[in-house]
Amino acid sequence: MIYLDYAATHPITREALDAYALAAALPGNPASVHAAGQAARERLEEGRARVATALGVDPRTLTANGGGTEGDNHVLLGVAQAWTEAHSRPGHLVTTPTEHSAVLAPARWLAAHGWDVTFLTPDAHGRYHPDQLAEVLRDDTALVSIHHANNEIGTVQDTAALAAVAAARGVPSHTDAVQAPGVLPLDLNGWGVTYATFSAHKWGGPRGVGFLYVRRGATLPPITHGGGQEGGLRPGTQNTAGVYAAGVALTQAEAEREATFAHLGAMRRRFLERVSAIPGLRVNHPPDASPKVASVTLSGADGEALLMNLDLLGVCASAGSACAAGTMQPSHVLTALGLSEPDARATLRFSFGRATTAGEVDAAADALGQAAAWSRG
Ligand SMILES: Cc1ncc(COP(=O)(O)O)c(C=O)c1O
Repeated sequence: MIYLDYAATHPITREALDAYALAAALPGNPASVHAAGQAARERLEEGRARVATALGVDPRTLTANGGGTEGDNHVLLGVAQAWTEAHSRPGHLVTTPTEHSAVLAPARWLAAHGWDVTFLTPDAHGRYHPDQLAEVLRDDTALVSIHHANNEIGTVQDTAALAAVAAARGVPSHTDAVQAPGVLPLDLNGWGVTYATFSAHKWGGPRGVGFLYVRRGATLPPITHGGGQEGGLRPGTQNTAGVYAAGVALTQAEAEREATFAHLGAMRRRFLERVSAIPGLRVNHPPDASPKVASVTLSGADGEALLMNLDLLGVCASAGSACAAGTMQPSHVLTALGLSEPDARATLRFSFGRATTAGEVDAAADALGQAAAWSRG
């Protein structure tokens, strides 16, 4: 099997799996004061400290949670709740049409509950410009939420410039940075964002584990209620093994980040060169997109059929975003960038990882040629 779907999930690393097994075998609850509890707490805090070191932030700014979707919902719904309580009416949210559904869906929920939601207009590469953001900010804007790296076409935003525009108006900013760690350089302090969300399974940690960054001094209410874990921000017994394994995986991924960036770039170039011979193939991702992702359109073909043919040939790729797979809906990211619905349906995403080899890339490119020929009859 040739796995080229790293943007959907990165297989858990051997080191993370071992770390998970070790911590999962501990008998205690990290909130318990006895020795068993302390042993669990040590692993939990070591995991958090490792993630904090890799992200260059204070561990106290990181709340362990259940992943990117939870973090995105927590920021949007939590900020909205606090704003509504303070102003006794719904406010204004600024976001983009090319967010992951983990941001889009709570934004739409807020819109259905009286919030005014502005969706910025992307340029042809899916980028958002600070001037455009400055124009739409209002006195009642409660939050700006713009992803850092796009999961479908790899566009990387100038998060520092966007956050600076929001900060100049006193508006908190959030970035969904789920696709960045282990591939792209991150500078949460330099960016100046108020909130950021992360997910361990994108960097070789376990699925269902994530981290919510809240800048020191900023506030956010809990959106679930229970015990006092995670400073009361995210109640519930922590996933000690998941957090520890996430930390082990990120330490390794960040240590190898520059080499990974170069490797992924080389793999993508090789792939694109080889598939350029396929008739009618077009590349969607911008040239300076995250090297993790290659997005290609085969006009006239059916993306779902292509994917199934690729699967028969042993290649795992993705149509649109993983979360949209199976729904048969054209990708909202691609249509927001101006692709027609048939072209969006004829688009595939291949995404590369540290373990991807030149041989795998060549075989996948050849399989795509074969699948395209089959699907065109
Ligand atoms: C940009 C982005 N945000 C959020 C998510 C959701 O993260 P999780 O799968 O941890 O809920 C994903 C996962 O596909 C993603 O790519």
